[in-house]
Amino acid sequence: MAPLAPIFKKAYLTVLFLTSFYILVLVALTNPWLQRHAIYVHKVQAWWQDMNKPEQFGFAKNQITPFNFSTPDGETIYAWHVMPLGLYAKHESEILQQPSGCAEDITKTKAFSLLREDPDSRLIINFHGNAGTVSQAWRTDSYRALSDGSTSNIHILAIDYRGFGYSTGFPTEDGVITDGVAAVNWAMQVAKVPSDRIVILGQSLGTGVTAGVVERFAKQGIDFAGIVLVAGFTSMPDLLPEYSIGGFLPVLSPFKHHATLKRYVMSYIVDTWESAARLANTVRLSKKIRLFIIHAKDDNDIPWTQSEALFAAAANATTNGGMDVALFRKMKARSTTDMGDGAFISTWKASENKIIREEIVSYGHHSRILTYAPVALAALKAFGLDEGGVLPL
Ligand SMILES: *[C@@H]1O[C@H](CO)[C@@H](O)[C@H](O)[C@H]1NC(C)=O
Ligand SMILES: *[C@@H]1O[C@H](CO)[C@@H](O)[C@H](O)[C@H]1NC(C)=O
Repeated sequence: MAPLAPIFKKAYLTVLFLTSFYILVLVALTNPWLQRHAIYVHKVQAWWQDMNKPEQFGFAKNQITPFNFSTPDGETIYAWHVMPLGLYAKHESEILQQPSGCAEDITKTKAFSLLREDPDSRLIINFHGNAGTVSQAWRTDSYRALSDGSTSNIHILAIDYRGFGYSTGFPTEDGVITDGVAAVNWAMQVAKVPSDRIVILGQSLGTGVTAGVVERFAKQGIDFAGIVLVAGFTSMPDLLPEYSIGGFLPVLSPFKHHATLKRYVMSYIVDTWESAARLANTVRLSKKIRLFIIHAKDDNDIPWTQSEALFAAAANATTNGGMDVALFRKMKARSTTDMGDGAFISTWKASENKIIREEIVSYGHHSRILTYAPVALAALKAFGLDEGGVLPL
């Protein structure tokens, strides 16, 4: 056999080494504990920041009340209550006199009583994506985008799931959904905000949490003012072959085009996050639903086509027995408005009470979109604070 030229031998060894390393990592990830670390990335956070000092993130002193609540299975969940700045301005001197830091009893704070006592106050419950905390990256800017404005009465409740930030425990799909349900129960039972003044908003992994939470409430006959899903996905096994870490590392894309191999590898996923099925179920169970599905075309982490599929699943669930793809496409085309630059809005109005809206925007990437107008506008529409005309919803 002719000896390989040294340069080819080197390249060959490098490829062999990288391939073996890749396979080794995949095998390691069949371990549920490692896999959950890889999916939730809950230990990656800016540990040098003190989340009990929200001024670090540009909020007014005591505009945010950090506090803990408990889940039925005994975890302590760390949360932020963010009050709208205009409301803060009206009560500034009283709020400034309150103790700062993580509240021993949030129900004794002025911010809390302003949320509970005002019959017009509204609440967005925010479920963030994987990695980091309530205070990470675009998240803090997004709270301002959603609630600021001199006349806003929109409060935000943001939580860190178990295992994230200062919360106790270790994340699993079931556990994280339990945390989300506990947050909603806190809002309805402790803060006494009725569900028709609550919007549930999730981004990325948080859309999975949202789908899981709203389905559980739909089963009890409880509907919300609105559900907003930003940069969502249909299920973890569907997503992973398409997902790029940080927008550039497509970890599982080698399996994208081999159906059998893909199914085999994906069968090792422990937390499958079946959002499309859960949303469809929620649509069927709800008496009233306003579902907003928003995704940016330039999202390099999760392709926007995932939101297309979420919309199809939710719309399909408004029909008896479902409709075939050709009919769906025809009906969707009829209710789609071109917004220019490749952006569009499709509004599926099954009835006055069941409206599903897909908005594909041109800009916003994967996370920054949270701070962009379409997301805040969706919340305003869900709360009925819009004109209710032009484009239906
Ligand atoms: C909130 O919970 C965390 C985690 O258990 C704990 O370290 C912290 O002291 C709690 N804060 C208050 C004010 O209870
Ligand atoms: C709707 O659901 C039916 C029954 O599950 C399925 O056969 C059909 O392909 C679905 N249509 C769309 C557009 O997803």
